Amino acid sequence: MKKILVTGGLGFIGSHTVVELQNEGFEVVIIDDLSNSSKTVLDGIFDITNKQPIFEKLDLKEKSSVEKFFKKHNSISGVIHFAASKAVGESVENPLLYYENNLNTLIYMLKGVLGLQESNFIFSSSCTVYGQADVMPITENAPVKPAESPYGNTKQIGEEIIADTCKVNQNLNAIALRYFNPIGAHPSGKIGELPIGIPRNLVPYITQTGVGLRDCLSVFGNDYPTPDGTCIRDYIHVVDLAKAHVIALQRLLDDKNDSNFETFNIGTGVGSSVIEVINAFENVSNQSLNYRFAPRREGDIISAYANITKANKILGWKAKSSLDDAIRSAWKWEQKIRNL
Ligand code: UD1
Repeated sequence: MKKILVTGGLGFIGSHTVVELQNEGFEVVIIDDLSNSSKTVLDGIFDITNKQPIFEKLDLKEKSSVEKFFKKHNSISGVIHFAASKAVGESVENPLLYYENNLNTLIYMLKGVLGLQESNFIFSSSCTVYGQADVMPITENAPVKPAESPYGNTKQIGEEIIADTCKVNQNLNAIALRYFNPIGAHPSGKIGELPIGIPRNLVPYITQTGVGLRDCLSVFGNDYPTPDGTCIRDYIHVVDLAKAHVIALQRLLDDKNDSNFETFNIGTGVGSSVIEVINAFENVSNQSLNYRFAPRREGDIISAYANITKANKILGWKAKSSLDDAIRSAWKWEQKIRNL
């Protein structure tokens, strides 16, 4: 049984990926510092898979702790590195925090991975690297645009750090997955997103409004050059996204990769407007949502959705869930955590 390290394994995407890995028979070691997650997520993972992953509470910014960890766990065959800070606004206010959290930790991880027998590495990247792309849907060859925020910059620089390291270490095999907009929760209702404070992302804001925790959703801008005037994004069910990680990892373990650093878009290929997401919520929840149009949010791009041909052809991966499926699971999760 191959042992896989998942950093940030108690977070939103990390926890769903741990479930898929365990379902596929991998032994999982989780590192998480619990800064934006909770140990109770382990119970949800156990309830779904009937397996308990190994858990180490560790702060990846502590270089010596990371070194110690890799000495102890030298039989790891692959690393999926989720642990990072992801609030765009916070990154603008505190750039050094973001460069330290997202880049120092990446460097320490890569050093650890280079010391393993099997150096396989999957990196959480983002469609944010494309900025407002000129052509839709966005292919992996679209130019990487200057980052809009320190958060976005850490994803671009992160990819560059990995690419440069791969160039001089042929035994290092890495894949960066560029996520579009992950939403939803495990269909079991046992794990899901746990935003702290007021959510900044659309779907948690909608579901919290649905349960009455928020009064009203502000739709940021209805004068964009899109069919209904609201922004368009590619919303992908987190379980589909989690499965993409397992498939990408398997590609590395089987030595099937074409080059030792590859990038893939992970989205559905379908763009949905904010209004379409609201409609999907009203449809699956059977209730109307209180919303109003508000000014545009600074830094928002008009439209971003993926061309997923590369992931489909090379990984054999495709998103299976519809927007309604994803919203339904997010709604089920929101009701569960509010004891409704
Ligand atoms: C954001 C980040 C992106 C990051 C991702 C992580 C920005 C500019 N981008 O993506 O880099 O990888 O989160 O999850 O912050 N909306 C509303 N009302 C709300 C919230 C959102 O109308 O209360 C709209 C936004 O204007 C946008 C869409 O919903 O059009 C999606 O927003 P959000 O969920 O925040 O994701 P992104 O901004 O696409």
